[in-house]
Amino acid sequence: MTNTGILGIGTYLPEKVLTNFDMEKIVDTTDEWIVSRSGIRNRHVVAEEQATSDISVIAAQRALENAGLEAKDIDMFIVATATPDMLFPSTACIVASKLGIVGPPAFDIAAGCTGFVYALTLANSFVRSGAYKKILVIGAESLTRILDWTDRSTCVLFGDGAGAVIVGETERNGIVYSVLGADGSGGHNLTLPAGGSALPATHETVDKRLHYVHMNGPEVFKFAVRAMAKSCKEVLDKAGMVASDISWFVPHQANIRIIESASQKLGIPMEKVLVTLDKTGNTSAATIPITIDMAIREGKIKKGDKLLAVAFGAGLTWGAVVLEW
Ligand code: UT7
Repeated sequence: MTNTGILGIGTYLPEKVLTNFDMEKIVDTTDEWIVSRSGIRNRHVVAEEQATSDISVIAAQRALENAGLEAKDIDMFIVATATPDMLFPSTACIVASKLGIVGPPAFDIAAGCTGFVYALTLANSFVRSGAYKKILVIGAESLTRILDWTDRSTCVLFGDGAGAVIVGETERNGIVYSVLGADGSGGHNLTLPAGGSALPATHETVDKRLHYVHMNGPEVFKFAVRAMAKSCKEVLDKAGMVASDISWFVPHQANIRIIESASQKLGIPMEKVLVTLDKTGNTSAATIPITIDMAIREGKIKKGDKLLAVAFGAGLTWGAVVLEW
């Protein structure tokens, strides 16, 4: 078995920012409601000409530079996203092509906001087995493209962004353990109902606004707190660690109240919890790499730190991973 770790990280947030005060002009909401119910203040929005593959490519180039590698060194491309450029081909194929690469396998992971943790786990297994050496793992979303901008209960919560890491062989074992799970019986609580084979696009599906995010917020909230605490406990047990061994907790950035409840259940003090959702909103599969990258830039995460990252999302899915940076 080969030791694996993260060789480089890069992120990208689109230039355009919408504040809660901008949201007040779009739907019947207030900065006070959004901050107190979610913790979010700003979200980034892709430019008209940007699709998920475009923001992925920028994050990927930054991760390659950070690792001192070139695109030709990558032997597998994985993109975790709920907002692919199109149903097919996969966004990963488009990203590899935009990076000028032909040949290595490329595919997307559909696990909603948990997608990055799923993709990282998969990449880790491929590298550990010796089958692949350097895998580009991207979590990227253009969620503002699938939001119903007349639905105040969802449109204020999400934003766009991309984060990329390169998983490869390392001297020490950087990706220690992970736990993944799914429960499709709760899937109806967070969906984009139309445009797939169940409900192909028709004038009626468009009129009924079924090509946008539909969410039962309170149900997802309850599930999230349970799933985060449970999967973190499981992965810590597997790693033979306890919560106090963790340097930084990197929770999926959906709602500050979810993060606080999960941290409390785990006994992790808020000083060790990384929070970026105030600046980005919920960027789904991109929140974890974006949060790690920001913390590195702020001088918080240092080499050798132990991170516990956890996510939950559409599926419903969940996943937790212990990493040594
Ligand atoms: O990555 C996974 C994706 N999703 C999530 O993690 C979301 C999880 N859920 C949540 O974060 C929370 O449930 C929300 C932030 C979505 C909602 O917070 P809540 O405390 O569960 O509020 P609620 O849905 O129970 O709504 C409370 C009230 C309602 O009014 P009434 O029926 O009590 O009169 C809503 O209509 O707040 C109203 N409301 C708003 N008011 C102002 C809903 N959205 C807004 C809004 N501005 N944007």
